[in-house]
This record gives sequence, C-alpha cells and structure tokens, in this order.
Amino acid sequence: MKHTEVDVSNIHYALRSAHGAHPIASGEAESTPLLSECTDKLGRPLKDLRLSVIDQCNFRCTYCMPKEVFTKDYPFLRSASRLSFDQMTFLAKAFVRLGVDKIRITGGEPLLRKNLELLIDRLACLRTPEGKDVEIALTTNGSLLAAKARSLRDAGLRRVTVSLDSLDDAIFQRMNDVRFPVARVLEGIHAAAAAGLSPVKVNTVVERGVNESQILPIARYFRNTGVVVRFIEFMDVGGAASWARKNVFTSDDARRLIESEFALQPLLTQRANDTARNFEYADGAGSVGFISSVSQPFCGDCTRARVSSDGKMFTCLFATGSLDVKPWLGEALAPEALAREILARWRDRDDRYSELRGVCARVGSKKVYPTVRMSLVGG
Ligand code: GTP
Ligand code: 5AD
Ligand code: SF4
Ligand code: SF4
Repeated sequence: MKHTEVDVSNIHYALRSAHGAHPIASGEAESTPLLSECTDKLGRPLKDLRLSVIDQCNFRCTYCMPKEVFTKDYPFLRSASRLSFDQMTFLAKAFVRLGVDKIRITGGEPLLRKNLELLIDRLACLRTPEGKDVEIALTTNGSLLAAKARSLRDAGLRRVTVSLDSLDDAIFQRMNDVRFPVARVLEGIHAAAAAGLSPVKVNTVVERGVNESQILPIARYFRNTGVVVRFIEFMDVGGAASWARKNVFTSDDARRLIESEFALQPLLTQRANDTARNFEYADGAGSVGFISSVSQPFCGDCTRARVSSDGKMFTCLFATGSLDVKPWLGEALAPEALAREILARWRDRDDRYSELRGVCARVGSKKVYPTVRMSLVGG
C-alpha cells in the first residue's frame, strides 16, 4: 500500500507579536516577575514543556515512522534549522517563567542529538519563580541508553522513560522494523536504574493483533524491579498510517488481562495532569499505569506544550498548526517578548483533540486534516 503524509511543519500561525513589532533587545532582566496568569481558554495552566531535540530516529516503529514513508529521502529537518542549546535554554527559561515545572526532552530519538548532556546540564540549573527545581526527564527508545545513562545522570537528568513494546525478539524487531534486538534495550533500562535515574518508566504501545501477547510478560518482567510500566493505547497520531479504531487494544482490556494474574488497586497519589491512570499491585510488587487517550481522553487536564527541534510551538499532540518562536530566541533579545508570545498563544488555546476524535472528519480511518507527525513533536 502506498502511504502519503502531509507534513504540517511549515504551516504556522501567523507571527503575532502582542505589540505588533519584531522583538528587539530591551535589556529586561530574566528575573522579571511572572507574567499574568497563564491559563488557556479551558482554564488549563501551562505546566509541562516537551522539547524535541531532533526529528530523526534510528528505529522505524511501524506505528510511528513506517519505513514506506520515512525513507532516506524523507525531508527531515536540516541540522542547520535545529535550535542550538543556547536557544533551547533561552526558550525553556521563558516557559519556566510562565509556570512550567517539568521539561521532557524528546525526539525522534533524543539521544541521537550530539552532546545532549550539555543541554541537560543547562536545563538542570533552572528554578521555578518559587525557587523549586525544574524536573528534567527524557523519553528514549533505549538503543543508546546503556552507554549514556551515567553521563546523562551526571549532567542532571532526573528520570527516563524507555519505549519497549515487546520482550519477544521477533515481535520487537517486527515493530521497530530495523532488527534492533530487545536485549540491548533491556541493557539500557538496567543501566538507567543503576545510574540512579528514578523512576525508570517503560512505555508499551499496544496494537491489537500485533503485541497484546506481550502485556503479561512485560508486566511480570518488571514486577519487583521499581520500573513502572505504562501501557499506551495505539493512537491516530500523525505518522501512524496503519491506525484504525479496531486496532486499539483498550486500557480496560489490558488491565483485565493483568488482573487475571495479579490483583491491582488504584494508586491514590495520582496527579491531575498525569497522562496515566496508575495502579499498584496488591502484593506490593510495584505499580503499573494505563494511558488511555482513545478510550478515556484526558484533555481536560492537559497542561502540555510541545516545541519541535526547529522552534515551532504546538499546543496539542494533534495540532495542525504551530507558532514559530525562533525569531524571539537569542540572548540579545528580550526574554519578555518571547514569554509574551507564548502566553498569547497559550491563552488562545482550546485544543482537545482526543475528546473530539469521534467527531473529526475522516475518510475511512484517515483524518481529513492531517496533524503534526509524532516524530517531530516527540509524543
Ligand atoms: P510522566 O511525566 O512520566 O507522566 O510522562 P508522560 O506520560 O507525560 O510522558 P511520556 O513521554 O512517557 O508519554 C507517554 C505517552 O503518552 C506518549 O508517548 C503519548 O503516547 C501519550 N501522551 C503523552 N502526552 C499526551 C498528550 O498530551 N495527549 C495524548 N493524547 N497523549 C499523550
Ligand atoms: N500511539 C501511541 N503511542 C505512540 N508512540 C509513538 N507513536 C504512537 C502511537 N501511534 C509513543 C512511543 C513512545 C513515545 C515517544 O510515543 O511508544 O513511548
Ligand atoms: Fe522512533 Fe520512538 Fe517513533 Fe519508534 S516511537 S520510530 S523509537 S520516535
Ligand atoms: Fe492534550 Fe491534545 Fe492530547 Fe488532548 S489530545 S491531552 S489537548 S495533547
């Protein structure tokens, strides 16, 4: 089958400066007090920044970067268009002033970005206006983690989430589609725990007919290890050419499967803006989570902004447009101007795609208005 994809990375909201002018140096101090309240049209505060550092990946997961689409001729972002670490740090500071207290580094595969430790080292110094540490996390496919876990930790990374869809090598290699062996990802997970990254989480996307046989083996494998597994419903994100509702293995089904072997009880320490609903094993063997964006959308508590590695801000994982913040980045420019741009965009936000999924225009299972590709904004 021939897949087609529309890349929306070049469709931007018009550059709107709240003050009409291009930002200029003004010498405003970084410590300028928090701008006025940063909540969107649905009353949701801005709390999490997901910062993509590269849109390329060494895997070709069939549900994210199908090989037929992401060929060697695919127009990935040119390295020259990527934000520098200076620009990313400047950007992160503006988000922190607006209320962000957690920054998750994503890709593509973020560990493909050279010297990532240097960025983490700088982000780890950020404090919220209340003086608290900003939590720095990373989502990775784990392929390069065994070699890098220690240096990432030393640079100030607090925790890591590793994608792992199967313990069975044949299934895993079919899903990553580059013949990457599961043993090396497991090595990465163990190295991360040994380096003191905590908690280590594992993300398992479950696609019906592909890897639901792996739910119980993965749950069993990580019990009593401290690693928190989250089972994710297969979503119709941009890039997921094979998505159809019938291929979604729901969280309720996944939980029932686990409960056929282990009793679970809801965890009471759930945070409102958590993507996962978390449970603990009744026998004290740890916890497990379920991310149910298809069957039980969680847009009402969505506090996440995403920025691609070329400086486009997206207010939803399923956005069709973005705000180019690059012109507002640079030590010579006023941090205030950038913060105002972000604030204006966030205040204008009314995204709740997962709640509207059922009523979105489609032809068959294909969305009529293609949304940003997952590998550009890192999930
Ligand atoms: P924690 O900070 O550990 O809670 O991580 P997280 O769940 O915020 O981030 P992670 O990268 O582990 O996200 C897990 C998966 O949940 C992603 O890969 C997506 O599949 C899905 N997800 C995360 N954020 C959103 C979101 O805002 N909307 C939807 N629909 N899905 C999301
Ligand atoms: N549905 C659900 N999760 C997905 N991810 C990538 N594509 C999809 C999809 N179509 C997840 C990966 C990884 C994170 C970056 O996003 O498994 O954990
Ligand atoms: Fe790469 Fe992650 Fe997408 Fe797989 S899901 S292709 S590892 S970015
Ligand atoms: Fe947030 Fe959009 Fe996901 Fe809803 S669909 S939780 S608004 S990113």
